[in-house]
Amino acid sequence: DRLPGVLRLMPKAELHLHIEGTLEPELIFKLAQRNQVQLPYASVEALRAAYDFKDLQSFLDIYYAGASVLLHEQDFFDMAWAYLEKAAADNVVHAEIFFDPQTHTARGVPMETVIKGLHHACQRAHQEFGLSAKLILCFLRHLSEEDAFATLEAALPFRHYFIGVGLDSSELGHPPAKFERVFAKCRELGLHVVAHAGEEGPPEYIRDALDLLKAERIDHGVQAVRDADLMKRLADERVPLTVCPLSNIKLCVFPTLAQHNLKSLLDAGLCVTVNSDDPAYFGGYVNDNYVQLFAALGLEGRHAYQLAFNSFEASFADAAQKKAWE
Ligand code: ADE
Ligand code: ZN
Repeated sequence: DRLPGVLRLMPKAELHLHIEGTLEPELIFKLAQRNQVQLPYASVEALRAAYDFKDLQSFLDIYYAGASVLLHEQDFFDMAWAYLEKAAADNVVHAEIFFDPQTHTARGVPMETVIKGLHHACQRAHQEFGLSAKLILCFLRHLSEEDAFATLEAALPFRHYFIGVGLDSSELGHPPAKFERVFAKCRELGLHVVAHAGEEGPPEYIRDALDLLKAERIDHGVQAVRDADLMKRLADERVPLTVCPLSNIKLCVFPTLAQHNLKSLLDAGLCVTVNSDDPAYFGGYVNDNYVQLFAALGLEGRHAYQLAFNSFEASFADAAQKKAWE
């Protein structure tokens, strides 16, 4: 079977990747030692053994704890560089990378430290690999609207280091409506806007992300299948969904990969893409997501072409760049 090789070799864009979710246990321990941060785990093995999640929240608790070792610009650079080396090896030629500044500013790390460390890694990836890497600032939805506005304010001196904003963290109980005003402000500033919706939350959250936040893409969105009218709208408007198959299994959104609904979404004409979300926690980078999904669902070569094509179509790369990828 030549398909896994094709999947690994084909050029692709990655559009749903949390940089804090690329911190491998080994790097967490290395940074903890370097920065004299105490971890509640005795070893790399003990930490990895704790990666047994029952839902989104049980993952987020460990994910935020892991990020506590990041203090200096070099730490953010090292984390992003480790990811970008793996992405280049997976033939990712364009990456739009989420970061969660509130996870760091709440611990006293300056916004500038976070953004500059990540930005320098993106710059170097472009120089060394020809990989265009862009940053998307995510607001943590379990925190307040006021906190999101303060975060935006703190990031404005670095406006040119990120291309857009997103919305992540605990979905249930934190509907898009909570961030309607801050997203309106971001759009006024010319930022792209995306939002996690319909990972665990209802189809209504996807609709509200479109209508209230004017999200240009929906991150996850897999719960859309529960609403036929919404499915038709997503297909008609070609709203991209950034789907993360291995994430959905680890967080128990679907019981097994064979039961994942990505093929139904594709067959319904939606602009579906494949992404890795938090690969250090979910057992695989983007190529692992493609290869395991294709095996589980019996997808074929034409699906590979469609998914790679969709990843470029759904990206925020400029028209000239998109033309060059055709
Ligand atoms: N932050 C990191 N990964 C996330 C996910 N899958 N859903 C919501 N917030 C996240
Ligand atoms: Zn995510």
